[in-house]
Amino acid sequence: MAGAVAAQAVAATVGSSSRARAESMTPKGLLPTGQETLGPFFPVRIAPMHDQDITHYPGKTGRALGQVIELTGRVMDVKGNPLPNAQMLIWQANAAGRYVNPVDTNTAPIDPNFLGVTAFGVDAQGRYRLRTVKPGAYPEPSGTMRTPHIHFDVANADYRLVAQMYFPGEALNAHDLLLSTLASRHRKPEDAICKPARTSEPNVLAFEWNIVLLT
Ligand SMILES: [Fe+2]
Repeated sequence: MAGAVAAQAVAATVGSSSRARAESMTPKGLLPTGQETLGPFFPVRIAPMHDQDITHYPGKTGRALGQVIELTGRVMDVKGNPLPNAQMLIWQANAAGRYVNPVDTNTAPIDPNFLGVTAFGVDAQGRYRLRTVKPGAYPEPSGTMRTPHIHFDVANADYRLVAQMYFPGEALNAHDLLLSTLASRHRKPEDAICKPARTSEPNVLAFEWNIVLLT
């Protein structure tokens, strides 16, 4: 019963907005977002002046190729409290599946208007907003394809989370070497997949993904 009461309390906190998605619950609160590998393409540099819109390369006027997306969400603790001091580092492949990283040997083209890396702090309510393009799939060394995903490195004074976020409805999701193994690693795959969200912008897709830090 105590667990049910705690769950209701968290649900009341987190569910105050109809936009908040239903995070997975445990008797102690929200299930922390799972840790994942940094992967081989952790950025070697972050462009100065890059902000939460990475559809343009800093200092250039062109727009990155691909489907523009707006990704929003909250960073919170297991009780659903916002973590306003969290810092986020985000990196991803371009729409063709290529990283701006010297170790990426994929032959897909680099997009001169896309770096795919940025860092920023969340707001006072733990919210973040990222405008980017949907990343493409890419081959990994064993020969399988990585399904489209975005890498996150989220940290505050107490905790650091490295995670990967996926997109709903992708044909490659069932075969991705990391996403498809989450269940066997005692994780919930649905927690790693963002949810469609509303947008009033034509030709822009919106998604929401909340992040729970074990802090
Ligand atoms: Fe990746």
